[in-house]
Parts: sequence; structure tokens; C-alpha cells
Amino acid sequence: MTASPSGGPLVVRTRAELAEALLAASSAVALVPTMGALHEGHASLLDHARGVVGPEGRLVASIFVNPMQFGAGEDLDRYPRTLDSDLERCAAHGVDVAFVPTVDEVYPGGEPEVSVEPGPRALLLEGASRPGHFRGVLTVVAKLFGLVRPDVAVFGEKDYQQLVLIRRMTRDLCLGIEVQGAPTVRDPDGLALSSRNRFLSAPERARALALSGALAAGRDAGAHGGAATLDAARAVLAAGGVEPDYLALTGPDLEEAPSAGDARLLVAARVGATRLIDNTAVRLGTPRAPD
Ligand code: PAF
Repeated sequence: MTASPSGGPLVVRTRAELAEALLAASSAVALVPTMGALHEGHASLLDHARGVVGPEGRLVASIFVNPMQFGAGEDLDRYPRTLDSDLERCAAHGVDVAFVPTVDEVYPGGEPEVSVEPGPRALLLEGASRPGHFRGVLTVVAKLFGLVRPDVAVFGEKDYQQLVLIRRMTRDLCLGIEVQGAPTVRDPDGLALSSRNRFLSAPERARALALSGALAAGRDAGAHGGAATLDAARAVLAAGGVEPDYLALTGPDLEEAPSAGDARLLVAARVGATRLIDNTAVRLGTPRAPD
């Protein structure tokens, strides 16, 4: 257990240290699970979590690159590891405890015999091209929930399918934890913040703007219905020379999109060697009130 000299978070690396750090927690505990490489998007999750538990609450951030959610040939080795700056960001955003376990600490004896079956919604979208990904995500999140036992856990809407599945797991398995989503944070030009953006060259970054541009065009066409929404988004992707892995319009829980009402527009595309995802809420069939 390492107390930060600068008054930052208590850094704990083992289950025992984590349990000891949380022993005296009589107030509400909020958890923000991360894989590190923290950016302003994560900072907004930490701020959101602090807002939920208040100044007296305990804010825990986990920093763990979870091998179980990476498939063969995915970027596990390339995934950025930036612990020093992560801990600085945690300090700046009032994290009380940073849980930074090793792979052995989370998976003693290797992959668990029992894992979380993520259900049919995990077969769509990201799940279609990343078999096993959500089994890995839900299994590690369930473990983190068991280790930290938070009252509330906060996840970004940027990984929308992940958020839906974590909500579903928490509900279906009666885990008794409040799962909250926090809005995606974007650069001023619209690009959704992501740990993977650092891999984009300048021309790739410019091309990547087609994703957020497509979502904005789709959202603006929402009043004209689902087909118009998809057409508008597709046109922006094509104009930007970006071939999507998927561009999908669904209901808010990833069910079939309604003909009118709340929906979600989701996109994934490879820009150069970097795979990016993004999504937005869309209101179908009702003209948007002016901003
Ligand atoms: O969104 C992420 O960073 C990860 O999928 C999560 C939720 C921390 C699980 O490893």
C-alpha cells in the first residue's frame, strides 16, 4: 500500500490492501473502473462519481488492463500504460483509493472456470467482431464489484454497448449496485476522447472526424425517421472516406429501433490501424427543439 506523498490517492495493489483501505468506509463508495491511460473523459467519470457520493464519500478508481477482454491479435500489448500520469489525474480529481492490481491478483490461477455469460445483446455490434470481448468485460467488472463492493459505479456512454450490458448484468444478477452512465467527452471539433486517439496520425485524426460528423448528421435527421437518420450518417462517412465496421440504429437498450421516440445511433470504424467507436442519442420522428 503506497500513500502518495503529494496527498493523492492511496495506491493499493492487492485484494488484502484494498479490503484494508475500505474497512473504515462508513460513507458511500463509488467505483470508476478503468484500464488506465486516463484522459479528460475518465476525469469526467471521476467527477461524476464524486458528485454522486459527495465530499464525504469514498472514490475508488481501478486501473487494470484486463487481458480477458482482448482477443487474439487485438492491441493488448500496444494498449498504453501510463501509471504515473494516471495517478496524477486521480489526485487532481479527488480519488481516495487507486486499485492497481496485477493480472495474477485479479486472476489467480489464470482465467476463471466460471465467467459471466453476457447474453444476446453481446453478440451485436462490438460483439460481432470481437467474440468473447464482453464475457471478459463483464467478468472483470463483476470481480471488481465483488472486491470493492461499491454503492455506485460509473461508466462512460462512449462504450455504450458495454454500459448497457453492465446495467443488464447488475440487474439480472441482482448485484445491488447502482450503475450510472456519464456523457461522452469530446474535443472541440467533436472527436470523442479515447485512449486510442494517441495512435492516430494527423491525417488519420482528421479522417476520424467523419465518425462524430456522421453521428451529428444522423441525429439532425432524426425527425425524418430511422432511414433518413442512417442515410445522413452514411453520407458523411462516405464523404470522409471511412468505411464503417457497423453503423446501427437501435433502441436505448440495443433492442430494435422504434419508429419514433428515443433511439441510439452507433458507429465503429477502423481509421488506419486504429479502431474507433462512437455513439449518440437520437430522437426519432420528433423535430428537435432549437439548442
Ligand atoms: O471501459 C473500460 O475501460 C473497460 O472495459 C473496463 C470497464 C474498465 C473493464 O475492463
